[in-house]
Order: sequence, then C-alpha cells, then structure tokens
Amino acid sequence: MEYKIGVIRGDGIGPEIVNEAVKVLDAVSGKYGFTLKYTDIDMGGCSIDKYGVPLTDEAIDAAKASDAVLMGSIGGDAKTSSWYKLEPSKRPEAGLLAIRKELNLFANLRPSMLYDELKGACPLSEVTADKGFDMIIVRELTGGLYFGERYTKNSHGIETAVDTLSYDEVEIRRAAIKAFDIAMKRNRKVTLVDKANVLDSSRLWRKVTAKVAESYPDVDYDTMLVDNAAMQLVKDPAQFDVILTENMFGDILSDEAAMITGSIGMLPSASLNDTKFGLYEPSGGSAPDIAGKNVANPIATILSASMMLRYSLDQDEASDAIDAAVKQVLKDGYRTGDIMSDGCTKVNTDEMGNLIAGKL
Ligand code: IPM
Ligand code: MG
Repeated sequence: MEYKIGVIRGDGIGPEIVNEAVKVLDAVSGKYGFTLKYTDIDMGGCSIDKYGVPLTDEAIDAAKASDAVLMGSIGGDAKTSSWYKLEPSKRPEAGLLAIRKELNLFANLRPSMLYDELKGACPLSEVTADKGFDMIIVRELTGGLYFGERYTKNSHGIETAVDTLSYDEVEIRRAAIKAFDIAMKRNRKVTLVDKANVLDSSRLWRKVTAKVAESYPDVDYDTMLVDNAAMQLVKDPAQFDVILTENMFGDILSDEAAMITGSIGMLPSASLNDTKFGLYEPSGGSAPDIAGKNVANPIATILSASMMLRYSLDQDEASDAIDAAVKQVLKDGYRTGDIMSDGCTKVNTDEMGNLIAGKL
C-alpha cells in the first residue's frame, strides 16, 4: 500500500518538528508494510516569501491530491515579523484558514490527556492531577466568527468594527455527528459547550445537537455554558470525555485544555472533512523564539502523524505503535526542555525523534 502525504513544514519550529515526525513515520511504515510518498507544500510565511501569498492555488491542488496532509506550524512573531505588516488577508494565518475552508475541514479534533509520566508538569492541584484526565475537543472549524462577514467602517469620525457569528443547521449537524461518533469509540459522553443564555447561534447548536443525540442513546449527552466550561477545565477536567463546540470557543478552550497537560508541545490535532482526508498538525504554534535551535518538543507532531495513520490511512496498528513508543520514551525519562523535570534526561528535538523512532 502506498499513500500520498502532503507535507507542510511551514514556519518557526515547523520544519524541525516535521522532520522528526517523518523520521518516525518512515520507521513505522517499513515495519507495518506500507509506503508513504511525501510532497512538500508551501503555506504560511514561507509561501509569502516565495510567492507573495500565504497559500497558492498550486498548494491547494497538491493538498487535494494527497491522502492526508501533515503540517508543522505557520506564522511568526506578530510584533517583529514583516509578514504582519501585510493586510490581514495576506498574512500567514490567512493561509491556514483558507486551506481549512478549501478542503472543507469542518471538524477539528484536539485530544488532551494527562500522561502519568507528566503529572509533575501539570499546573493543576495535585489532587486534580492525580485523578488524571483524557478528553477530546471537537471544534467546528469552518464556520462561525472566523468565517463570517467582517468589516470596519468609519462614520462621522467614529470607527466601528463588525464580525458576524452565524451557523446553519447543516454545519452544526455534521460537527455534532462527528462528536457522537467519536464518543462511541471512547467513554460515550458528549458535552456541548455554548453560550445559549445569550446567543441565538448557541440556541440553534442546542436544538440541532439534541436531535442528533437522540440517534445515540448510548451516549450520555449534556450541555454546558462556555464560561463555566473554562472554569470546569481547571477545576475538574476528569469529568469530560468529548467536548463539542463552535469555532471560537473551541479555539480558546483547546489552548486551555492543552496547557493543563503540562505542555502544548504534547498535543496533536486532526482536521477532518466528510471523506477520509485530514490535515494533521500539532496544537501548538510556530514558537519563533525557539525556532532553529533544535529544542522544540516534536511529540505533538509525532502524535499528529499517528492520528493521520489512524483516521486517514486506517493503519491503526502502526498508530498504536507510535503512541506506545512515545509513552515508553517518556517512561524511560527522556524530556525536551518544555516538559523537563528533576531526575529526567534532557534531550533535543532530533534526539527525541531518534529515541521514538528507535522504539519502533
Ligand atoms: C489554531 C490557531 C488558529 C485558529 C489561528 C492561527 C488562525 O489559533 O489552530 O487554534 O484560531 O484556528
Ligand atoms: Mg488557537
């Protein structure tokens, strides 16, 4: 079996962490009898430097021609990088939003789990950390505020900026179905997070999701207001299994859910459409401050590659093997700087990749 993998190395730490994921993929594919053929795709700042835009039509076509896309990270330091002197629609992030829309990647899966080995790095109370947690956020990714009509106008010397938050029932239903399908493979619990005490769009989310829930009698379904959810995530994260939410709430809560695991450098993500195709990327950003120093944590990208094997290529055994290798290397006490703790051995980006690939 041969699969076509688009590879977006991107900006900042992107190229370094993707190198390690490719190393691990090559180790595992050999063992499990499949081949991966990689095609580099430019996106973000590096695409701006080459072509003047963060995403070209050729890049979109190359992504569409792939079975899955593995991505590092895009963007730079907004305070210093020249990319941020461009108008918003030409900046690196616009490329990411555009590829999500072009490929119809409406469901963004962001798992957040506390590894036993990393309990020491968890910023929550010891009691909470000891309980552990293992959740997945299903964030709607192609609708809502980030894709609504927006403009800034000046009327009689007063500037007004408008962003529009709109969802239709089709967009909500397909995201909800993804969340319930995933819950069926996990602990069968879905929490819809919204602001239904204020927003019409949230009230539609409740109506449509409640209807979807009727088709999943085995799933325990509940709703929670987003402000409360932000609090519950630090108070009692063990209560969550699958969190379903709209685009902006998911953006915010997924960073919070990542941080409580100790490091955002640990968390993978998958963005899926209604085919097998997916875009896989670490939850963290491009970290320009440590780019090129060989110190970034490649584990989130390696686990994103593992998700790619599972969700897009149906290579579950190979995916399990990567997840187990990551756990074993952590158990053996190897850590990158972001998750370093007493008594462990500090390793660089490439050493971490070598260690994980070496377990396969
Ligand atoms: C993310 C990022 C992006 C988003 C930005 C870079 C546009 O924060 O993937 O969470 O908000 O979706
Ligand atoms: Mg974000």
